[in-house]
Amino acid sequence: MDACIVTGASRGLGRAIAMALASAHATAAAGQDHPLLSGAGMLAMLVARNEADLATTAEAVNEVEGVTARCLAADLATVDEMDALVESMVGAVKDALGNGDGGSLIVVHNAGSLGNLKYVDEFAGEGMVTTISSTMSLNMSSPIALTGALLADGGIASLFTNVVVVNISSLLAVQAFPCWGLYAAHKAGRDMFFKVLATEVEHIKAERGMGLVRVLNYSPGPLDTAMQGEVRTAISDASQQQLFAGMKEEGKLVTVQASANKLMALLAGNAYDDGAHIDYYDELPAGGGSSSG
Ligand SMILES: NC(=O)c1ccc[n+]([C@@H]2O[C@H](COP(=O)([O-])OP(=O)(O)OC[C@H]3O[C@@H](n4cnc5c(N)ncnc54)[C@H](OP(=O)(O)O)[C@@H]3O)[C@@H](O)[C@H]2O)c1
Repeated sequence: MDACIVTGASRGLGRAIAMALASAHATAAAGQDHPLLSGAGMLAMLVARNEADLATTAEAVNEVEGVTARCLAADLATVDEMDALVESMVGAVKDALGNGDGGSLIVVHNAGSLGNLKYVDEFAGEGMVTTISSTMSLNMSSPIALTGALLADGGIASLFTNVVVVNISSLLAVQAFPCWGLYAAHKAGRDMFFKVLATEVEHIKAERGMGLVRVLNYSPGPLDTAMQGEVRTAISDASQQQLFAGMKEEGKLVTVQASANKLMALLAGNAYDDGAHIDYYDELPAGGGSSSG
């Protein structure tokens, strides 16, 4: 049995990725070779705060034969919740595995928020430090803490032969634009954290006895989601506001399904270098990937 963990699975890209992973399982079950998925069942662990929306994702995922969804409602901005969350995940995996062995675990760190979209000289006033630190907790601390807890001795990863960690990144991780200071700093920091993890792949394999450990920073393109709606209404910079409003009006936003499918193609191709930052608009890498970090 394989498993996936998708954070921010209650809507937007996270929901589309959960559904795309379920479809990839179905394709593997139908006999198509996949470097990660065996087709022998999949446990999909879905994390976000909104329980009703998570249940909607779970319903869609459960429609795929052989896939079982588990909703794990949690506020990832509260990093203290991480231990309880990982404990629930270990329980869910052990229930699903029974006496069997886990095949591949695919972890997608997708949950994220914008925080604020102001000029840096507007980063002041009551509540600003709270906004900065709670956004940082969600965008930075939670994927780092969750990855550590999953890979640690007694974490979930040791129940599986293969582990793939996907960080949902952004163009903002590698390119600066006005009013994106908070979000861009977090996305850049996340990319670097997972690049460091990529340099530790051989260590993790040796310590945890794993066959395959892969790490990818995937930038999903400008998506037609609630987050984009927030950008159009909240960003202080007029040129950025016009840019994003124009992309929506001209139909240039990427659908979450198209972006999730691109991620599935990257995983199935298995040809990226560990720690690479790959954008939705990039060509799929050819040849065998390496642990270059
Ligand atoms: N939209 C874009 O154009 C774009 C571009 C590049 C990268 N991205 C990245 O893609 C990812 C998904 O974006 P999206 O556009 O799908 O965003 P979205 O529609 O706003 O969805 C965000 C998801 O994160 C969850 N979330 C937010 N705060 C949370 C918290 N405190 N604890 C747990 N879960 C939380 C939300 O669920 P709940 O509210 O139920 O908790 C929701 O499922 C993000 O990492 C984003 O930075 C987006």
